[in-house]
Amino acid sequence: MIHAAVIGTGSCLPKRVLSNRDLEKIVETSDEWITSRTGIQTRRIASSDEKTHQLAVESAKRALDMAGVQADELDLIVVATVSPEMIMPSCACLVQNELGASNAFAYDINAACSGFLYGLDLVDKYIGARPDMKVLLIGAERLSARVNWSDRNTCILFGDGAGACVLTGKDDGRGIIDSNLFSDGSLWSLLYMNGPQNLGPELKHAEKQDCYIRMMGRDVFKYAVRAMEEAVVDLMLRHDKSVDDLKLVIPHQANIRILNKLMGRLGLPEDKVFINVSKYGNTSAASIPIALDEANRSGRLAPDDLLLFCSFGGGFTWGSMLMHW
Ligand code: ACO
Repeated sequence: MIHAAVIGTGSCLPKRVLSNRDLEKIVETSDEWITSRTGIQTRRIASSDEKTHQLAVESAKRALDMAGVQADELDLIVVATVSPEMIMPSCACLVQNELGASNAFAYDINAACSGFLYGLDLVDKYIGARPDMKVLLIGAERLSARVNWSDRNTCILFGDGAGACVLTGKDDGRGIIDSNLFSDGSLWSLLYMNGPQNLGPELKHAEKQDCYIRMMGRDVFKYAVRAMEEAVVDLMLRHDKSVDDLKLVIPHQANIRILNKLMGRLGLPEDKVFINVSKYGNTSAASIPIALDEANRSGRLAPDDLLLFCSFGGGFTWGSMLMHW
């Protein structure tokens, strides 16, 4: 049986580090409040020459290099993002252009923080139909351009960055095993970002344009824990897997309290969960691929390891996935 397997990973974080102490100068907050409520200590903030597609391109170059794949060998480029600079063309087409991936077709998907997981599921279907395909999947966000920097409820949570994977078909037992994806559009108003109204292509000054992130934090928290728990338990039961079978869990990095609650409910020991939210905050669709790349490059993954991914985000969208590394 052929499945989509990851053959290269890469990530790119903007250079500028914004600490909680820096935030104390912007809104009425404190390092203590942010750390205790979210676990976040720093986040990266993109400059004007670190646009969403540029972060995406850098992460892609690193993933292609690891995979030993040339850009012109790519058949498909998918970018998961809710913060592209332009509505049209897609971020994926801008990436294709900069990479010179002239043989690929390219498009974006939007499933908020679950975008990368939805993307992996999508790529698995393409590769199931055409196993020799080489696919570049990227999660890239520049959420600093979409937060209201005077709203302390939200601006402390988010950061910028990109992560990428190159995938192709493998028949040696490696690759995506199965996924369990969900959406509930009836709850959209608990976490949303308006589209730009009468804007130029460069979506700057989101706050003035009323297109910044709005969130009912407590409700999001409650739904996120329960939904991810159910998505994981269902999937593990379906495949007769227990926590003992898992080598590493790579969750969407929303905040440490959500992750701690989830780990408690699933009986997951801390050393089986990859967590980097303290460094980068919530980078939405980029959080899982950045974490996967860090886990990969730091030697935490070996062939055949069983990995579990889970996510939750605006929409609401959520899900889980099992993968043999
Ligand atoms: N600094 C200081 N005080 C603050 C801050 C801040 N940055 N933000 C809010 N407060 C205040 C509030 O105004 C409130 O004050 P009041 O009691 O005088 O009104 C008080 O702190 C408590 O506010 P709550 O919103 O009830 O705080 P809570 O304990 O729920 O923590 C938080 C807020 C961290 C947002 C929490 O609800 C949460 O983690 N929610 C999940 C949100 C999330 O992760 N969203 C990301 C997108 S979805 C995803 O990725 C899963």
